[in-house]
Amino acid sequence: MRLAVAVAVPLLAATGVAATAAATGCSALNASSLSAEIFFPTSDVYRYEAQEFWSNTEIMAPGCVFRPQSSEQLASGVEALVKAEAEFAVRGGGHMGIRGSNNIDDGVLVVMSNLTTLELSDDRSVVSIGPGYRWSDVYAYLSPYGLAAAGGRLGPVGVPGLLLAGGINYYGNQVGFGCDTVINYEVVLANGSIVNANRSSHADLFWALKGGSSNFGIVTRFDMETIDSPLVWAGIYTVAEEYVGRFLEATATYAANISNPKTHIVPALVPEDGATLGSVILFYDSANESYPDIFKPFTDIPAVSSTLGFKTLYEFAEETGEVVTPHINDIFVAGTIKAPNYSTLLSAISLINTTFFAQLPKLTAQIPSSNISIIELDFQPIGSAWLSASASRGGNALGLNASEIYICYAEVVEWIGEAYDDIVNQWVEETTYLINNKTLEAGFYDPFNYMGDAAGFQDIFGGYGAGGLERLRTVAMRYDPDGVWQRFMPGGFKVF
Ligand SMILES: Cc1cc2nc3c(=O)[nH]c(=O)nc-3n(C[C@H](O)[C@H](O)[C@H](O)COP(=O)(O)OP(=O)(O)OC[C@H]3O[C@@H](n4cnc5c(N)ncnc54)[C@H](O)[C@@H]3O)c2cc1C
Ligand SMILES: *[C@@H]1O[C@H](CO)[C@@H](O)[C@H](O)[C@H]1NC(C)=O
Ligand SMILES: *[C@@H]1O[C@H](CO)[C@@H](O)[C@H](O)[C@H]1NC(C)=O
Ligand SMILES: *[C@@H]1O[C@H](CO)[C@@H](O)[C@H](O)[C@H]1NC(C)=O
Ligand SMILES: *[C@@H]1O[C@H](CO)[C@@H](O)[C@H](O)[C@H]1NC(C)=O
Ligand SMILES: *[C@@H]1O[C@H](CO)[C@@H](O)[C@H](O)[C@H]1NC(C)=O
Ligand SMILES: *[C@@H]1O[C@H](CO)[C@@H](O)[C@H](O)[C@H]1NC(C)=O
Ligand SMILES: *[C@@H]1O[C@H](CO)[C@@H](O)[C@H](O)[C@H]1NC(C)=O
Ligand SMILES: *[C@@H]1O[C@H](CO)[C@@H](O)[C@H](O)[C@H]1NC(C)=O
Ligand SMILES: *[C@@H]1O[C@H](CO)[C@@H](O)[C@H](O)[C@H]1NC(C)=O
Ligand SMILES: *[C@@H]1O[C@H](CO)[C@@H](O)[C@H](O)[C@H]1NC(C)=O
Ligand SMILES: *[C@@H]1O[C@H](CO)[C@@H](O)[C@H](O)[C@H]1NC(C)=O
Repeated sequence: MRLAVAVAVPLLAATGVAATAAATGCSALNASSLSAEIFFPTSDVYRYEAQEFWSNTEIMAPGCVFRPQSSEQLASGVEALVKAEAEFAVRGGGHMGIRGSNNIDDGVLVVMSNLTTLELSDDRSVVSIGPGYRWSDVYAYLSPYGLAAAGGRLGPVGVPGLLLAGGINYYGNQVGFGCDTVINYEVVLANGSIVNANRSSHADLFWALKGGSSNFGIVTRFDMETIDSPLVWAGIYTVAEEYVGRFLEATATYAANISNPKTHIVPALVPEDGATLGSVILFYDSANESYPDIFKPFTDIPAVSSTLGFKTLYEFAEETGEVVTPHINDIFVAGTIKAPNYSTLLSAISLINTTFFAQLPKLTAQIPSSNISIIELDFQPIGSAWLSASASRGGNALGLNASEIYICYAEVVEWIGEAYDDIVNQWVEETTYLINNKTLEAGFYDPFNYMGDAAGFQDIFGGYGAGGLERLRTVAMRYDPDGVWQRFMPGGFKVF
């Protein structure tokens, strides 16, 4: 069965059947009872939806847009597309900055925009969220109740892609990944049926959706635990280049001993106008306490600027969201190191720092500074508090080991002008392999690449621990024996 699927994909591509079948997808949907939800290139809806992507590099030319108004319509559409053997792509918030991951040339672009359930359970412990939302919408909805959710740290990021990748969030040291707080998924399966996946119903699918992305179905509703968090003490704290050494030490100190689970940090190095600043998001889930001791190594460094203060999660996600520049070209690349204590963590961080910055002149020599919007190197500590919280909720497909301390790093480059796309792609690929080879040699390398931060050339599922990939494949075969999500929906990270 699997072999047939593996063979079918190159055959389709080689014979050009795929392109014909893709055009058939738009005609098949347009000829069905769903025609009111199909939009062709001359319509305003198409013009709007075809541009709703984070990075210009994601913009393509789909044959039509399918914008279902309900799970049932989406399910009928999937049935029609599979019957027509037609290719399609699915877009939630459009923040996966990889060309073709959430969009398609000629085929059907399925958008989640009108799947907009947003409601609290009677006891307010669960929020049900449609995949049409961005996190700022969710936080705005929860804010009046003094509630929060373990979602994106920047408001504009989409709900579905983040939760299907895992979900690095401000409350991670309390609740684990965002996906760990999902108690139920409503999913359209490959055969067009709609099921709930939760601990007691389709438990294998429930597990697989926690990190398995688009290989199992299209999620039409996420039921997520809420978190009591009326106010947080948070901000962006930036220090000058002369303190970058201390800044990286503070990062290693925090990662080595995350003793206060109500805290979260996102330290980043940001080269700007010839100098490199250290800029850290400091987050403390507290309505009445500021400057927790654990942040002292950062806050003892004099700040160039600081926005620390009490605010709602909604306000903070709006604040951090301001760094998202619309309609430019962007790429993220992911990597991970693990190390057991302060001194080894600092060595690993330093190695990433020196390798990245030694490479940087090769990039800046090829692109004028006025065409570079942001360059950033982020460090995300994930330790035992986080991973134990994940495990206590049943675990996820990522398979990280709660006895280890990980730092997931991300390289970010944002630029203006597609003329520079190839230069940036080549540079980040070379730089990432260089960093990986160095951390491998030094004994720090881990093959985990966080999907949310990954580039298209990277392997994701091969880096999942504890036999995660094998288990994901077993679940995919059970729910989708014909390989619909790989053959007809080629975009995104696939388990086959
Ligand atoms: C500025 C920025 C900030 C970020 N901050 C964070 C952060 O704080 N934490 C974090 O964990 N990640 C973060 N990310 C990464 C983020 O998780 C991913 O980009 C994620 O894909 C965003 O979700 P989306 O819905 O916008 O993505 P999309 O690009 O719409 O979708 C991503 C993938 O999921 C598939 N998909 C979309 N909807 C569905 C669905 N309903 N069912 C099945 N498959 C679907 C798509 O086909 C695509 O392959 C950030 C990214 C950016 C650009
Ligand atoms: C879509 O279907 C409608 C009838 O429902 C028809 O008028 C229209 O021409 C079709 N559009 C395309 C591009 O096939
Ligand atoms: C569908 O989504 C679009 C884009 O967000 C929005 O403008 C429109 O009002 C929505 N339509 C319905 C019926 O919800
Ligand atoms: C799990 O799915 C079953 C079957 O659809 C449903 O009856 C039950 O309410 C779901 N549980 C949760 C927690 O959503
Ligand atoms: C971790 O930090 C806490 C509080 O800051 C401190 O009490 C404890 O001794 C530290 N543990 C280690 C192993 O350094
Ligand atoms: C802050 O609030 C928490 C929870 O309500 C409480 O336990 C704590 O004592 C308060 N701290 C201060 C300094 O008031
Ligand atoms: C830190 O870990 C390394 C590698 O395991 C070990 O060699 C070193 O002794 C440890 N240092 C401390 C202070 O525990
Ligand atoms: C980080 O890299 C820069 C540039 O190579 C270097 O000057 C600095 O000393 C490094 N800092 C640390 C702590 O490794
Ligand atoms: C988890 O990490 C610990 C400490 O490094 C190690 O002893 C253990 O074997 C690891 N577990 C798995 C399943 O890899
Ligand atoms: C560089 O950026 C400017 C806008 O700042 C833009 O007009 C120009 O086209 C870009 N250069 C290239 C080669 O794309
Ligand atoms: C090491 O570098 C080579 C050549 O660039 C690359 O193919 C390989 O994947 C790198 N190793 C890792 C672990 O990334
Ligand atoms: C669709 O697939 C699911 C999961 O494999 C299965 O439980 C269900 O019976 C199937 N429905 C139909 C109509 O074949």
